[in-house]
Amino acid sequence: MADSIDKLQMSITKRYGGKVVLDHFPLEVGGREFVTFLGPSGCGKSTALGIIAGLVPPSDGEIHLNGRRIDDVSPEKRGFGMVFQNYALFPHLTVFGNVAFGLSLQKRPSAEIEQRVRGMLGLVRLAGYEDRYPGQLSGGQQQRVAIARALVLHPRLMLFDEPLSNLDAKLRVEMRAEIKQLHAQLGLTSIYVTHDQAEALSLSDRIVVLREGVLMQVGTPQEIHDRPKNVFVADFMGFRNFLDVTLGKEAGGMIEAGFKGQILQARARDSFRPGEHAVLAIRPEDVRLGKSGDGVNVLRGKVELVEYLGREQEAEIALNGDARLWVRSHEKLVLGEMLDLTLPADKFVLLRRE
Ligand SMILES: Nc1ncnc2c1ncn2[C@@H]1O[C@H](COP(=O)(O)OP(=O)(O)OP(=O)(O)O)[C@@H](O)[C@H]1O
Ligand SMILES: [Mg+2]
Repeated sequence: MADSIDKLQMSITKRYGGKVVLDHFPLEVGGREFVTFLGPSGCGKSTALGIIAGLVPPSDGEIHLNGRRIDDVSPEKRGFGMVFQNYALFPHLTVFGNVAFGLSLQKRPSAEIEQRVRGMLGLVRLAGYEDRYPGQLSGGQQQRVAIARALVLHPRLMLFDEPLSNLDAKLRVEMRAEIKQLHAQLGLTSIYVTHDQAEALSLSDRIVVLREGVLMQVGTPQEIHDRPKNVFVADFMGFRNFLDVTLGKEAGGMIEAGFKGQILQARARDSFRPGEHAVLAIRPEDVRLGKSGDGVNVLRGKVELVEYLGREQEAEIALNGDARLWVRSHEKLVLGEMLDLTLPADKFVLLRRE
């Protein structure tokens, strides 16, 4: 239903005063893709989105849409839809009036406006709410009006800036499923900003991880989740254990890693050499309680802190010396208890020390 784009391409630098907030930020988005910008507060996500929308002028660089330069095209002429965190609805207009606003500006015939607005309100499950005012709607309903208002104009590209962060946890999960469904159903191309890794993983075809205006990694949710390229991305994606190791002999696809006087085994990776200092990252949920059969990668330590997570617990284990390890378990973990832990070799991600 929406006009599709073939390709958006850009490489953008943005400075505020002397400060570089986006440094040659490269991006390529294909038609019907769902791409997410993920990163901590202040990393430049909204700035990048604002530049694509035409609301923020870039300091350097170009944006091309289907091979044509668009960075000197005004925001209205770009034909993009935007949804913000704070809904930004017109308070004095009804739900119908809000969604019809852009079509009225385009002087569409009233029969067409009526039909498109009603159709769109049906899609976002707000049929029957036409005459309400924004102040009479819940946060989730207001955000659906904001999404309908953008989508009714058949945007070539949808830009979302943390659209769900004002909603409670349950509604957030429901609304993200709705956004994903609308994206597929309408054949949209979408760029979505969030600092929530779960949101990025569940929505995206590709995730772009940013740190202080610099691109850290681009990949599918599975690539970013399973094979982070550096300590920053791993940390952001929920790896909580980072073991400083010194690499040793490599044989049969495995490499030895010296850690606190013990030898651990990890899967070898190209470009890592014996003698090099490196980091082994592993998620708390991948650390197993007890000894492995072959005794490989077993560490012993004492439970120092237990965080209750509901179904599971996450505990901090004090190892030899000053090392600490986080482990997640369904079994009850008791403060002060001594535990054997197995770190499966294929769950380690070998990273360069920063
Ligand atoms: N108008 C401005 N003038 C000066 N500095 C700005 C301006 N807008 C943003 N910045 C700075 O640019 C950097 C990136 O800001 P941006 O809003 O893009 O971050 P963000 O990733 O969207 O963060 P958040 O998750 O908090 O929304 C920040 O350091 C911010 O302080
Ligand atoms: Mg922002």
